[in-house]
Amino acid sequence: MSLSFEGKVVLITGAGGGLGREYALAFGERGASVVVNDLGGDIKGGGKSSAAADKVVEEIRAKGGKAVANYDSVEDGEKLIQTALDAFGKIDIVVNNAGILRDRSFARTSDLDWDLIHRVHLRGAFMVTRAAWNHMKNQKFGRIIMTASTAGIYGNFGQANYSAAKLGLYGLANTLAIEGRKYNIHCNTIAPTAGSRLTQSVMPPDLVESMKPEYVAPLVLWLCHEQCKENGGLFEVGGGWIGKLRWERSQGHIVRHKNQRMTPEAVRDHWDNICDFTDAAKPVSIQEGLQMVVEVLSKVDSEGGVSGNPTASAASAS
Ligand code: NAI
Repeated sequence: MSLSFEGKVVLITGAGGGLGREYALAFGERGASVVVNDLGGDIKGGGKSSAAADKVVEEIRAKGGKAVANYDSVEDGEKLIQTALDAFGKIDIVVNNAGILRDRSFARTSDLDWDLIHRVHLRGAFMVTRAAWNHMKNQKFGRIIMTASTAGIYGNFGQANYSAAKLGLYGLANTLAIEGRKYNIHCNTIAPTAGSRLTQSVMPPDLVESMKPEYVAPLVLWLCHEQCKENGGLFEVGGGWIGKLRWERSQGHIVRHKNQRMTPEAVRDHWDNICDFTDAAKPVSIQEGLQMVVEVLSKVDSEGGVSGNPTASAASAS
């Protein structure tokens, strides 16, 4: 059975072009009522225009879909959600996608470069999502997408401001996934790669052409569907490929002995053990980390003499 969004109301931020436009068209085609938000500015966050959002709304309507435009900045999250409520009476799905770039080497990053990036990406997603949250809670359904970036996951020269904001979105999603779970609100994060006006300065033209946004949209649609149980996931997606990421933690090593000072020399001497990912754990909750260190406390405490390292048994308890 094909995945329908009939009866669902979806807001896509920054949907006047690139990836957001593709999501808007795809949701519209499958029956969703779509709020197409776009400030219509330039890639550095300057200027505004209603043309970008209007054009996408027209495209959706021309195909028989339902859509309205919103031209506010994501920093005014309430206004975006109000547009959804006014036009369609509810909000079911929020795709936080709006974005700008202000690339600079770290040394040259100004206050404005830092603040604008954080205001649009991180604060913008916060404002929009918070405005939608209680509506989702009350109706016991919500699907939220955060748009991170491989620049945040792995780092990228000249993108300190952007990397920080983008991985901040993943941190936000981690907690929303926990707080939303019992209300059937799921929050997932994607790190896409696609040709767009944002990437045309960093990708060769043929790659911009062939790396189509339509190779990203199906993941977003699936994650936003009511059948999808995924919550708190992080996915890299591009070119038709989708992969899931997770944390790994080495077994680690206890470098402290009972009744002895813990020293940096002991850290140095066991560095290889600390960083050895053989049989690594894949922790999924904060409790697992806490449990681990609490166990270490009692293991060190129960140490008989000063010799012998309880690491192996402590670590395997993780
Ligand atoms: P794009 O520039 O085509 O689309 C971003 C849209 O956001 C633009 O239409 C812009 O007008 C809008 N926008 C900017 N500031 C806004 C604000 N304050 N309020 C409302 N709308 C605003 O770029 P693209 O590539 O489609 O990017 C979409 C998202 O994906 C961004 O968050 C970007 O950081 C992220 N991303 C894209 C990658 C790619 O390879 N294209 C790689 C990693 C992340």
